[in-house]
Amino acid sequence: MNKNQLLSLLYQQEGNYISGESMSQTLGVSRSAIWKQISQLREAGYLIESAPHKGYCLRSNPLQVESVKLAQILGDAPLGSTLIYTPTIDSTNTEVKRLASQNAPHGLLVIANEQTAGRGRQGRSFHSPSGQGLYLSLLLRPQLPHSDITNITAWVAVALCRGISQCCGVDLGIKWVNDLVWGNKKVCGILTELTLESETNFVEYVVIGIGINLRQSLEDFPEELRDTAISLETILGKSVNSTALCGAILKELNQMYSSFPQEKNSYLEEYRKLCITLDKDIQVLKGDSRRHAKALDIDNDFCLVVRYNPQETEHLSSGEVSVRGMYGYL
Ligand code: BTN
Repeated sequence: MNKNQLLSLLYQQEGNYISGESMSQTLGVSRSAIWKQISQLREAGYLIESAPHKGYCLRSNPLQVESVKLAQILGDAPLGSTLIYTPTIDSTNTEVKRLASQNAPHGLLVIANEQTAGRGRQGRSFHSPSGQGLYLSLLLRPQLPHSDITNITAWVAVALCRGISQCCGVDLGIKWVNDLVWGNKKVCGILTELTLESETNFVEYVVIGIGINLRQSLEDFPEELRDTAISLETILGKSVNSTALCGAILKELNQMYSSFPQEKNSYLEEYRKLCITLDKDIQVLKGDSRRHAKALDIDNDFCLVVRYNPQETEHLSSGEVSVRGMYGYL
């Protein structure tokens, strides 16, 4: 049993009591093991009430986003001005898209404690178990032509690095385009989706989806992710307050969006510094083809400049690259 399994049982009661006996049976451990884990959770800041003949009840959870507190932190900042917190959802990006099509306002923020169909880039899924990650999506209505918004994901990556560093004191790197990494493991992914107005080619709306691995221990990750993913709490060796983290990230995203696109050079410069892909041997993946290349630079449009051979370079604006030494590419 680990703390997340126990927490998951407590979450499921939604404020009701669950007996120590029932938890010990479900998790296949002794009642004293349950009691020990409960004490550790309390030390980590969870408010868990206990009552004779009733068991345990999770009352407040500093590790889950508390929307009232978050709204206080955000004040009158535009991004997050409409805030929806939901315990579980298929995908926060999908939900924001559904709401966008019903005229939801610019700045809508949807946060979930769990996603049952979390989505990643390139049609992949994003593992989003209850209480273990931060899953959020923002709705932007930028009123700009498509060409002006194409590199916003890179800006978001910089803003996230700033927010995480400010809240947790951890300096992550960016694997081009938009994975936030610690060493050779992924901590956070970004999924940007946009819809165009058919006549004008202007952007109707943009959805920025952010998924952060927050509390998973190694064994909480599905086997296929264990070599490539890591959580912030594993890096830090201590708990992270979700509301504070979310607040720090939203503060940076607000700052970013208010300077978009005029502060491009400062974001570009920081992106280059944070980008761990540069100077590495990589593989460029296009459909079924994989080509070896060297990552040379980030150009002024946040494209990755790669060299296949002395005669052939390319500026990649999107797509997938594997970096040697990461995610199983040796
Ligand atoms: C990736 O790494 O490929 C992108 C992952 C993006 C995951 C986030 S979690 C919140 C939002 N909702 C989703 O379904 N996906 C994004």
